[in-house]
Amino acid sequence: MCGIVGYIGKKEKKEILLKGLKELEYRGYDSAGITVLSDGELKTFKAVGRICNLENKCADFISEGFGVGIGHTRWATHGKPTEVNAHPHIADFSNVIHNGIIENYQEIKKLLEQKGHQFLSQTDTEVIVHLFEEYLKDDAENNGFEAFKKTIFCLKGAYAILLVSKKYPDRIFYAKNGSPLIVGKGQTGIFFASSDAPLIGYTDKVVYLEDGAIGYMDDNGQFDLLKNIKSLEQNRAFAQKEGFRYFMEKEIYEQHKVLLETVMGRVSEEGIYLESIEDRFFEGIDEITICACGTSYHAGMSGKYLLERIAKIKTNVVIASEFRYSEPIMREKELFVVISQSGETADTLEALKLAKKAHLKTLAICNVDNSSIVRESDAVILTRAGIEKGVASTKAFATQVMVLWILSVYMGRHKKILDNQCFKNQVESMIAAIRATEVDVKLHERLKRLSKRYLHGHGFFFIGRDIFYPLALEGALKLKEISYLHAEGYPSGEMKHGPIALVDSLLFTVALMPRHLLYEKIKSNVEELAARDATICTIGSEIFESADDMIIIKEGADYMEEFFSMMVVLQLLALEVAIRLGNDVDMPRNLAKSVTVE
Ligand code: G6P
Repeated sequence: MCGIVGYIGKKEKKEILLKGLKELEYRGYDSAGITVLSDGELKTFKAVGRICNLENKCADFISEGFGVGIGHTRWATHGKPTEVNAHPHIADFSNVIHNGIIENYQEIKKLLEQKGHQFLSQTDTEVIVHLFEEYLKDDAENNGFEAFKKTIFCLKGAYAILLVSKKYPDRIFYAKNGSPLIVGKGQTGIFFASSDAPLIGYTDKVVYLEDGAIGYMDDNGQFDLLKNIKSLEQNRAFAQKEGFRYFMEKEIYEQHKVLLETVMGRVSEEGIYLESIEDRFFEGIDEITICACGTSYHAGMSGKYLLERIAKIKTNVVIASEFRYSEPIMREKELFVVISQSGETADTLEALKLAKKAHLKTLAICNVDNSSIVRESDAVILTRAGIEKGVASTKAFATQVMVLWILSVYMGRHKKILDNQCFKNQVESMIAAIRATEVDVKLHERLKRLSKRYLHGHGFFFIGRDIFYPLALEGALKLKEISYLHAEGYPSGEMKHGPIALVDSLLFTVALMPRHLLYEKIKSNVEELAARDATICTIGSEIFESADDMIIIKEGADYMEEFFSMMVVLQLLALEVAIRLGNDVDMPRNLAKSVTVE
């Protein structure tokens, strides 16, 4: 998602900042900007699109001599990717860059507006720099740090922040909570970045700041006072993957972080807030049709169970390429929801256009702001998964399901189906589900070992019931995408109507056995397969005697916690099988990340 760089020193600052931002390009962004403060001058440049656009804008600018600089790549969450919304954000004499989300920015903005502050952008970030200047008015110690601390203490949410001010031209103020921030010291100065890659070549001593870190750096040795100074790994590709073997692996591991971003500012004890969607939007809607392709379609299928169970609203799920030519009946009371990671999938986009033509209200659940699907839809909920590089979708799927869950709770609340207690339970369950996606390293090790037994055979069945059926479909899809083994997802109760004929010891069955949803039913289905000598691997929190292998997960408090735990297991299982088979996990043969042809 967004990226941060910062520099204090005598070297040409513009070059260092731009080079650093280029190292962060792999994370995805839609605009970028830098601020350099030297000789008492604060110079800011911003551009939409690639870093080269920013380079062109500041081509004639030179920043020699001692000074400080900050740079940012923005991946839009609040407000469109425009130059005004790009960071750094500017007040009268200070500039700020920020990664994360300030949940209470609207309250702060209102208060500041009453005091005469004027805002230019639609972002949550801009309040930080105005609040700082407001507190500076009565900063007793007059070193800026008191005002900065007060500013940070007002913020709710996740952030990594760098702030510079003309009043204190030798320093960068920094704060970290939830979003990563690293500070390093090298021969030529002090460096900041949101991940390792921009620091390589400039410094080998770094501190990975902890949550709650707040301070400032100039070139007077504060760095040496920091605890936990570490050496920096100097391999760039390794740094981009943050030590993981593949982007897919990294993306599996960061799911709990991006899921937090998905709920942040939207889910709270008081209610659900969907930015940019008015309550009126859902008025008159009595049915939902979800339309998508691939993994997004599986998220949609999972959403059907949630919408019908939680919000009691009839939901249909259709594959976009099928929908387009099926002469579908569309009613104006139907909400048409499209789900897409890329926002560019041709079939989904065309299906959306059909629905619009039929005057349906349309809603996009998408990971890329300003994509074709977002632009075409009446309303949007962004999934905030950050760029996904692995072709096999993992964190995008997780965030899509989470958005559908949030939507279900929102609609259930709206329709007065969920009372306060039920609402509270749903929110607690979401938080527990997010925690459940944090990878347990021991479990991962076990899956690595186990994977060697699943490299051959004549096929896989992934089976589950209810919402675990689309999860089984997704588990099978993950495996076939990257291992090239034949795998099929099936509702477990349906196995006896045909597929059971295939069963023998070389048929692998991966059974999803949640403790909190239809456990006894699926148990009988798995027994039927075991009796016919299928090789069975169960995923669940219970010991299951008839299984050949068991992957034991922590017992969750409810079925959604189990859903998210099992999702991670399925992704890791596919990953480890594919790695053992020697495949290129991030770029599997014949597949594309964004399919813009029919
Ligand atoms: C491609 C990708 C899949 C993805 C599908 C739909 O096939 O390889 O991972 O699920 O397209 O893409 P979308 O961007 O619309 O979610």
